[in-house]
Amino acid sequence: MTESAVAALADRLGDFRPRVLLTLGSGLGGLADGVDRPVVVPYADVGLPESTVPGHAGRLVAGTFAGVPVLVQQGRVHLYEQVAPAQVVSCVRVAAALGAQTHVVTNAAGGLAPDLAPGDLMVLTDHLNLTGTTPLVGPAFIDMGAAYDPELRAAAHDAAAGVREQLFEGVYAGLRGPAFETPAEVRMLRTLGADAVGMSTVLEVIAAIQAGLRVAGFSLITNVHGPGVATDHAEVLAAGRTAGPRLAEVIAALLPRL
Ligand code: HPA
Repeated sequence: MTESAVAALADRLGDFRPRVLLTLGSGLGGLADGVDRPVVVPYADVGLPESTVPGHAGRLVAGTFAGVPVLVQQGRVHLYEQVAPAQVVSCVRVAAALGAQTHVVTNAAGGLAPDLAPGDLMVLTDHLNLTGTTPLVGPAFIDMGAAYDPELRAAAHDAAAGVREQLFEGVYAGLRGPAFETPAEVRMLRTLGADAVGMSTVLEVIAAIQAGLRVAGFSLITNVHGPGVATDHAEVLAAGRTAGPRLAEVIAALLPRL
């Protein structure tokens, strides 16, 4: 599946080769508006899996963002859509095959750490893969000891400071979903050392590391977990739309530093 998608996309892109894959999470699709001279390729055109989730467009946008050749993945598929792990990571593998060297991955996440509030931006220091699965097959014993590149993280802090955005740091727990977490699960995740929780990213990052990409990850905190606080998808999308432009600014400032 990946080889035919690579060939089909290479055909559409001509000489253009991305240096960076930028994956956009729920409600963050607006980041693609910053791409200059965009070539838009719907996933279906190149045989990539389409998301069924409201807020996920399902297309690739190739072009330059802050002067850097990027492939923007606008919308992703999730495990809870009953797709195989290989499908969840197909865009990562396609981008790597086209020569991308860096993966900037974003997500919408629920805040667990007490200092996080809706609208906050967090750069990922590490993750907990609690999905119960992996995109790797066979004895692929890859090193995950520094999956979220410390240099890129430092560059992200410089970029955020440059545009006067506060950037938290933390550990992202990736769960299968789609139900939001129970209070007991929230307590468990805190005990395990998670600062934020979501339903994406971890498999993509495993595939990115396997493919030799450097990874920078960002969570946009769309909601927080606490006693008596309900969680709903509309709130997640709305927070993404409101705070998305701020994350876009940080990423625009980061790209030239990669
Ligand atoms: N839990 C899981 N995934 C999420 C959340 C959450 O609270 N918010 C956004 N994505």
